[in-house]
Amino acid sequence: MRATRPVGEITRGTTGHNRLRRSDRWIAAVFGRLLRSADRPLVVDLGYGASHTTTLELFLRLRRVRPDVEVTGIEIDPARVAAARPYERPGLSFRLGGFELPVDRPPVLVRAFNVLRQYGEAEAWRHWDLLRSRLAPDGVIVEGTCSEVGHRAAWVGLDAAGPRTLTLAARFDAFERPSDLADRLPKALIHRNVPGEPVHAFLRDFDRAWAVSAPLASYGVRQRWIAAAEALCAGWPVFRHPPLGGRSRWRLGEVTVAWDAVAPLGRAPGEGRLDNP
Ligand SMILES: C[S@@+](CC[C@H](N)C(=O)[O-])C[C@H]1O[C@@H](n2cnc3c(N)ncnc32)[C@H](O)[C@@H]1O
Repeated sequence: MRATRPVGEITRGTTGHNRLRRSDRWIAAVFGRLLRSADRPLVVDLGYGASHTTTLELFLRLRRVRPDVEVTGIEIDPARVAAARPYERPGLSFRLGGFELPVDRPPVLVRAFNVLRQYGEAEAWRHWDLLRSRLAPDGVIVEGTCSEVGHRAAWVGLDAAGPRTLTLAARFDAFERPSDLADRLPKALIHRNVPGEPVHAFLRDFDRAWAVSAPLASYGVRQRWIAAAEALCAGWPVFRHPPLGGRSRWRLGEVTVAWDAVAPLGRAPGEGRLDNP
């Protein structure tokens, strides 16, 4: 078979233990049913970085949901693949590749964290398209960004039709107001946090909901966050029932909103296609 060059570029390999714990927890809760019902489920962790750690953690957490799930870490840097290979075990493998996803069957779930932020906005949309075309039927992508230690995070949930959800997640002592999480927005949104764009209005309203919920802080920051999420539901399609929303998710410092409400208004410079213009 002719070897083809992986799609993408080698970028910084920064990673760390438990950095992606928040999104792992969300994936297990939100896509548990999908994983349990899939035939021979394959999960890809794209761009796992300088160490195998976050892929191994995802593997261990998803095995609790579906004991025979297979996880493959894909990296575009051959040295990082060589470094991870000694940690392979039944059901967990590492291989060289890029956005084309060189795996033996379509994955039911692709996780890509802190990968696309290092590309341009228009490129990020194109790479979303390529990833979506590789999914198994009903497959999903979780693409996001987080702080160095993972205390602030944001991610987009996509399926074959396009982006579906935006989730913000934070440790309660890691921010002063919800809009502090803006610096972790995925590439498709980070440049859109400007007046006139929906994601900017969403964060502004989240800050307002946070401000009016201040009295709840005497019961703890968690109660204030839950109250702010409830208030936000009045004006935004925030998910309010499990698995995506409601108190059981909000109490973890998460809020998930429908993508269509926060999608960019226009095309990115040089962009070929945008599903939600
Ligand atoms: C900052 S690290 C993120 C590591 C880990 N996912 C995390 O969040 O802790 C980004 C990694 O993605 C890899 N990468 C970038 N583009 C890629 C692509 N198209 N396919 C596979 N890996 C890619 C880089 O080589 C780098 O190791």
